[in-house]
Amino acid sequence: MPVIAIDGPTASGKGTIATRLAAELGWHVLDSGALYRLTALACLRRGIGAADVAAAAAAARGLDVRFGARIYLEGEDVTDAIRDEAVGDLASRVAALQPVRDALLARQRAFREPAGLVADGRDMGTVVFPDADLKVFLVASARARAERRYKQLIEKGFSANLDTLLRDLEARDARDAQRASAPLVAAPDALKLDSSDLTIDQTVAQVLAWWRARS
Ligand code: C5P
Repeated sequence: MPVIAIDGPTASGKGTIATRLAAELGWHVLDSGALYRLTALACLRRGIGAADVAAAAAAARGLDVRFGARIYLEGEDVTDAIRDEAVGDLASRVAALQPVRDALLARQRAFREPAGLVADGRDMGTVVFPDADLKVFLVASARARAERRYKQLIEKGFSANLDTLLRDLEARDARDAQRASAPLVAAPDALKLDSSDLTIDQTVAQVLAWWRARS
């Protein structure tokens, strides 16, 4: 079953691009970050911190989730709740724990179903789907990413501060890049795409062109 892996730093547009690609190709999509966010939310609700490795791993193993147009945790619609900054922050901390990553591995691979899968995350091309048919490492400058996130938040009616967003984003980048377990690195065979000055349409078109050139 073909897999296109899209990895890259936070807010690089991976989710939007992966969803659009999957729709174009008629494939499934895996938002692996959502699994780490769901684990974080489950931990928050049980009062588990990232220091309690065994409990965090147990929460990851026991996740009762359902993916579709909306995302459900234990039957509750948490699509918006998992996008909260506090959840994202704990997600990046629990994601640094190897037992948590191990607990989520089989669950991620199970998304590989006919006719194909577009998987987005940090380690799709390196760890989860090392045999992916196409690996894209999607980057954008920290400022471009902070501005995109700012716009999204304002459009959704939230208040936001661009400087705070930029600082948080750089801190999360550093944590994702420096951790010992599955740090954010491009697979050696990944094609790098800088979307700082590209529209969503242009970015999707480039990945599709790469895919069609290979298949
Ligand atoms: O992509 P998103 O911001 O939703 O991911 C939340 C957190 O989950 C990230 O900060 C990252 O630390 C972690 N993550 C990961 N590996 C993945 C996807 C996400 O470590 N494949």
